[in-house]
Amino acid sequence: MMVAMNDKDTTALAHVAAIPPYPPGRPISAVAREFGLDPARIVKLASNENPMGCSPKALEAIHAAAKLTHQYPDFDCYELRELLVAENGVETGWVLPGAGSSDLILQAARGWLGAGRNAVIPQYSFASYESGAAAQGASVINVPARGWDHDLDALVKAVTPETGVLFLATPNNPIGTAVAPAALEAFLAAIPAHVLVVLDEAYREFLPAAERPDLQRLIAIRRNLLVLRTFSKIHGLAALRVGYGIAHPSIISILKRLQLPFAVSTAGQMAAVASLRDRRFTQSCEELNTAENARLSRAFAEGGFDHVPSRANFILFHVGDGPGTAQALMRRGVITRPVANYGLKTWLRVSIGLVEENDIFLGHLRELLPEGSRAG
Ligand SMILES: Cc1ncc(COP(=O)(O)O)c(C=O)c1O
Repeated sequence: MMVAMNDKDTTALAHVAAIPPYPPGRPISAVAREFGLDPARIVKLASNENPMGCSPKALEAIHAAAKLTHQYPDFDCYELRELLVAENGVETGWVLPGAGSSDLILQAARGWLGAGRNAVIPQYSFASYESGAAAQGASVINVPARGWDHDLDALVKAVTPETGVLFLATPNNPIGTAVAPAALEAFLAAIPAHVLVVLDEAYREFLPAAERPDLQRLIAIRRNLLVLRTFSKIHGLAALRVGYGIAHPSIISILKRLQLPFAVSTAGQMAAVASLRDRRFTQSCEELNTAENARLSRAFAEGGFDHVPSRANFILFHVGDGPGTAQALMRRGVITRPVANYGLKTWLRVSIGLVEENDIFLGHLRELLPEGSRAG
């Protein structure tokens, strides 16, 4: 006999049942179905993906990998790992690929958090930090931002002897601000040694080279540090789920025990290798993003929309009614990201798209809100 259950009846752990589900950007197919739109005319600017797609070399690698689908992938991701080791000037043992950086965020939570421990998390942080901590039954210490920036002093002060992990993203999603390298180094030196600092650099490549944190300096300052990177953003491989962590081998060795075996697909490994070797492609993505970031920022200013200057591939801008405007834009075939779940009900986040996509977005935004929207 089938027994109907609702959320209240669940026999799952209460702290797990209380975790808010991850709020993903809506896929084009779902929006097309709901609003009766032609999928080909929908512009998706909701998940900070790469509007240029991925490198043609990565596409070739994916085709080649398709023939190996019946075999398990290389467990150790040998070729990818060794390329990352060389690129980052670290030794073998310092790099661990995972199924997106999300995978490594959850591994860090599982290795370092549990009942009786806490995670220190800045206000306006990527949602998986909190859900990862909550899934472990750990408590969360939320640290208010200072304006739109992380309050680094307050984060240091928030640490307790029970803190297992401190999560910090720079550039930060959903805000787009970044921590200057010197401030980051001083901050890392000030965090007590027992805390694993997870430094999430998902948007690193969108920073000008001089503003990117220097890995060698960071690992010299702090041993208990896990740096996370991803192939989902500048490399345009989000669907293949590839990310990696860089950390002292003693940390990598713990994370490895928590890995889903064969989590990184063969296509993911081969495409990531090909993309790393195609510097010309990522360079062109960086250039498009820089130019369109500047153009969109100017358009917001001219149109009377407050926005937060962005160091990433998305921009937070003020609309008054975030969810309502997102819905109105969606009806017109433009998918943006409401950020009410971050306590930002009057703002929206838009990913920086191709020139034509940004023009379509701006055209609809101006029609919907001809007067713009100041935060007041
Ligand atoms: C700050 C940050 N970290 C991590 C991720 C997860 O990326 P992935 O799991 O695709 O590597 C994202 C995705 O948007 C992000 O914004």
